[in-house]
Amino acid sequence: MKILNLYSGLGGNRKLWKNAEITAVESSAEIAAVYKDLYPGDNIIVDDAHKYLLNHYQKFDFIWASPPCQTHSSFRQNICVRYRGTQPVYPDMKLWQEIVFLQANCDTKWVVENVKPYYPAFIQPTVSLERHCFWSNFTIPDKKFTGVKIRKAQIPDLQKYHDIDLSKYKLPNKRQLLRNCVRYDLGDYIFGAAQYEKK
Ligand SMILES: C[S@@+](CC[C@H](N)C(=O)[O-])C[C@H]1O[C@@H](n2cnc3c(N)ncnc32)[C@H](O)[C@@H]1O
Repeated sequence: MKILNLYSGLGGNRKLWKNAEITAVESSAEIAAVYKDLYPGDNIIVDDAHKYLLNHYQKFDFIWASPPCQTHSSFRQNICVRYRGTQPVYPDMKLWQEIVFLQANCDTKWVVENVKPYYPAFIQPTVSLERHCFWSNFTIPDKKFTGVKIRKAQIPDLQKYHDIDLSKYKLPNKRQLLRNCVRYDLGDYIFGAAQYEKK
């Protein structure tokens, strides 16, 4: 099975995926280097995932995209912008571009992951699980995932939670990197749902 893991980060979502040929795309060379260390068998490409999707979506059996969530998150909008007065930003519409593009063009299984937006979603997600929304072209049954309160968790808690040890790496903002990770049991659950439903 050929998988495209877009905006791969540290590959939290990918930890339990097995028997697959995985191509990961990440724009930060520093983050990609850690991913490569964690998953040496994967093909990791330092590139713009948004562009990569357009040019390569037909080459894979399963596509996962986790575009950056900061501009959609209620955390940033409600807490940072309104109350802390940081520079406001527009929501990044690339999230919606990718969903619409995949809906219209992609015949193989795909899923786009993001946070629950602070504004009404333009396209209803297939399912909301834990703190995430998922848009997909396959059924993802609802399921309860309980876990740590990610907003308050510190690096040691997050490393344990995601089973990722970053102690040997020099990286800025390890806490944010770990907070970005999708928990591995959830990544595995979605992957299982994609395989369960026949094309
Ligand atoms: C939400 S995190 C991904 C988390 C990942 N799915 C996991 O479970 O660990 C988003 C990642 O996308 C990367 N990124 C941001 N813009 C990008 C772009 N245009 N192309 C590729 N990667 C990008 C960020 O550096 C970050 O590591």
